[in-house]
Amino acid sequence: MSQVETIYLKDYKAPQFLIKTCDLVFELFEDYTQVTNMMKITKEDKSAKDLVLDCADLELLDIYLDDAKLPQSRYIIEKESLKVLDVGDEFKVILINKIYPHLNSELEGLYKSGNIFCTQNEPEGFRRITPYLDRPDVMAVFKTTLVADKERYPILLSNGNRESNFKLDDGRHGITWFDPHPKPSYLFALVAGDLGVIEDKYITKSKKYVRLYIYTDKGNESKCKHAMKSLKDAMKWDEDVYGREYDLSLYNIVAVDSFNMGAMENKGLNIFNSAYVLADEDSATDANYMGIQSVIAHEYFHNWTGNRITCRDWFQLTLKEGLTVFRDQCFSADMNSKEVQRIEDVKALRERQFVEDASPTAHPIQPDSYMAINNFYTATVYEKGAEVIRMIHTLIGEKKYRAGMDLYFETFDGQAVRTNDFLWAMSKAGGVDLELFKRWYHQSRTPKLKVDESFEDGEFRVTLTQIVPNAVDVTTQSAYYYPLKIALLDKSGEEILEKVLIISKESEEFIFKAKSKPILSINRDFSAPIIIEHKESNYAFLMKHDKNSFVKYESAQSFALETIEALMRGEGLDKEYVVAYGHILEDELDLSYKALLLELPSVSSIMQRAEVIDFEIIYEAKEKLQKHLASTYKDKLLEIYRQNHKPESKELDAKSIGQRSLKNRSLKLLSSLQSDEIATLANEQYNNSLTMTDRIIALDILEDISDALSASALDNFYNRYKKDALVMQKYFSILASSHRVGTLDRVMALQNDDAYNELIPNFVRSLIGVFARNYKYFHAKDGLGYKFIADKIIDIDKINPQMASGLAGAFKIYEKLNEKNKNVMKIELQRVLKEHSLSKNVYEIISKILKV
Ligand code: PHE
Ligand code: ZN
Repeated sequence: MSQVETIYLKDYKAPQFLIKTCDLVFELFEDYTQVTNMMKITKEDKSAKDLVLDCADLELLDIYLDDAKLPQSRYIIEKESLKVLDVGDEFKVILINKIYPHLNSELEGLYKSGNIFCTQNEPEGFRRITPYLDRPDVMAVFKTTLVADKERYPILLSNGNRESNFKLDDGRHGITWFDPHPKPSYLFALVAGDLGVIEDKYITKSKKYVRLYIYTDKGNESKCKHAMKSLKDAMKWDEDVYGREYDLSLYNIVAVDSFNMGAMENKGLNIFNSAYVLADEDSATDANYMGIQSVIAHEYFHNWTGNRITCRDWFQLTLKEGLTVFRDQCFSADMNSKEVQRIEDVKALRERQFVEDASPTAHPIQPDSYMAINNFYTATVYEKGAEVIRMIHTLIGEKKYRAGMDLYFETFDGQAVRTNDFLWAMSKAGGVDLELFKRWYHQSRTPKLKVDESFEDGEFRVTLTQIVPNAVDVTTQSAYYYPLKIALLDKSGEEILEKVLIISKESEEFIFKAKSKPILSINRDFSAPIIIEHKESNYAFLMKHDKNSFVKYESAQSFALETIEALMRGEGLDKEYVVAYGHILEDELDLSYKALLLELPSVSSIMQRAEVIDFEIIYEAKEKLQKHLASTYKDKLLEIYRQNHKPESKELDAKSIGQRSLKNRSLKLLSSLQSDEIATLANEQYNNSLTMTDRIIALDILEDISDALSASALDNFYNRYKKDALVMQKYFSILASSHRVGTLDRVMALQNDDAYNELIPNFVRSLIGVFARNYKYFHAKDGLGYKFIADKIIDIDKINPQMASGLAGAFKIYEKLNEKNKNVMKIELQRVLKEHSLSKNVYEIISKILKV
């Protein structure tokens, strides 16, 4: 497989040709689709002779140049290109080809999800539909006609506005769509099916009327209400906060079951994984509701940051993704709780991005090379990308940030641009020099900051030293420029000052006048995505007194981490930590926030700090701490549980969500006692609660502590929901993440369950993907967990390479494993790499992990 080609940013060349208009006709049949593609093309580089279009395994039927059928001698069709020889300065091409959507299991291009025809073209799916200049800097005006059987496919959708329709004699019908906004091919979409729909409207700030539709499989219409409400909230928010209005009179969303990712921002026709649309109290958890709100908003926000202004090339992906994630995070913070949202964002960043950044697949938010671009829709490009935008926001402040955004929209609307163009606008409007800051775009890995402090003669000295890790190829990297929000607290916890320091040098001393030695509260709000190393920090004090909700949380986490690490070294349990935890239990705080403060560090965050990872030791230490806390505070935890447990409530207001979150945290902690009393409580909660949030947590607890009760609850759950794919995915996840003996065998057997379907990515993620993050059994020392996942990668790669390379991500921690685990994992990774016809997606990930 070593012949996989690497694509470099430095090789970027402007397109030699542009496509002005693209008129498409799709004739959809059950066993094939015929595509007619008529393009008006201009030559931009007069030295070019031949037009080279991208294609992927297309069956070309006919080709016309300026209305004359082209003889075979005038073109060359190969696996990945169609070359039209010797073309003029301005011409028209008509291409006719055949594709097979019902056989498309990669879910890129035109495919079928159940009985629905749909498309996914980002980043390079359009070339699987018709030959094209399939790159984001070629923007055309699209007109699309869909023709299909009227009974099976009454709904025919594409981008833009509906222009006309017609009926044919043979029971078929056609609809023509026109999108006035020039766009790259990756934003093209079509949908055909027999769908249910809910309808609403939105009136924009300038009084334009927009019709809103959400389409779904019939019977699911009532589960689309929350998505619709979220859409309207997002439209309003973008007007209020960014001054951006929607620009078509129609906004369509379609939910499909088979989708590789969360959702896709196609112009005027978003296509969604149904997991991010469908919800009702009986089937969705509170977290699901939040997820829907944020993904609906994310795709909506792309209309300006992504669609109106798009990327020049795929190396610029973070231009639209980092920025749009930052926008959706701020939206969620405004709609819900700011403090909780920020902590959730940081948690997500650390769980996924920090792990990636520490692995051999680490890359800058703007990579400079790739093998498979699909592998770069990463936590780094998205989540770290959002942190980088947030730092700009912190550096220049809300007002100038908004001026920078306005300038960006004014200057680049309708264009395909680079991250540098965005930074130019921010620098100009912000009045800051961002040259040093740009290193965040081109360097990889998580920087550290070492904090040393001293106090003498009324001077508090803080010495900050940057530790900048080398890149994956061991080249050295330079110090970063960033905002570091700090505060000094006095002995009673009062703030003496709060300040944003600008960090720009390798090492720097900051001096503050103070009467007595202050306590330092550092990286408030997580103002920079870095790791702080601070020996003198006073976690117990900050847990109790810091008014910055993030640092209070962070101190609780750090204190717990140090306590667990001491246990891992065989030392005793730190009593001071246990006391500090008790204070939090008594604290009067927002309930959701309190639930976060009481959460112990994840296994992943413990593992990230270890030099060599051994999961058994981590689990043992964490369990020991959990048990100790649960037995020490049993009465208080039970009291919190009883006070907040409202089985008959299914409300979705902040207070109800907070109550569920807090009492479920208590119950989960108590479950470490493995007692009948707690099992009974969990069982009652399973039987009596009206919400899925409560049922799932109860099931999860029963699965870990009670054989008998879990068997009957799982049975009940299965029978109740076996027809509901999204709920069954939760069921598979509970079993795949179980710590019970025999989990691997059960997971293997569940692949044959009637409710499971390996062709649908959500199922694979819920069972196989979740198992690959079950540290206990995936990392079992006999290597059987690794072998199973390696086998699945090989199998699934043949169906859907993107899904397979997603699974391969579970091996990213290879390097840091203890010898025993590392050796068995290596055998499996090498075995995968030896497979013939391995996709470049899987090859790229595994070859980078093994450094071959
Ligand atoms: N652009 C999509 C988003 O971030 C993600 C996506 C990428 C979906 C590639 C499908 C394929 O919203
Ligand atoms: Zn996006």
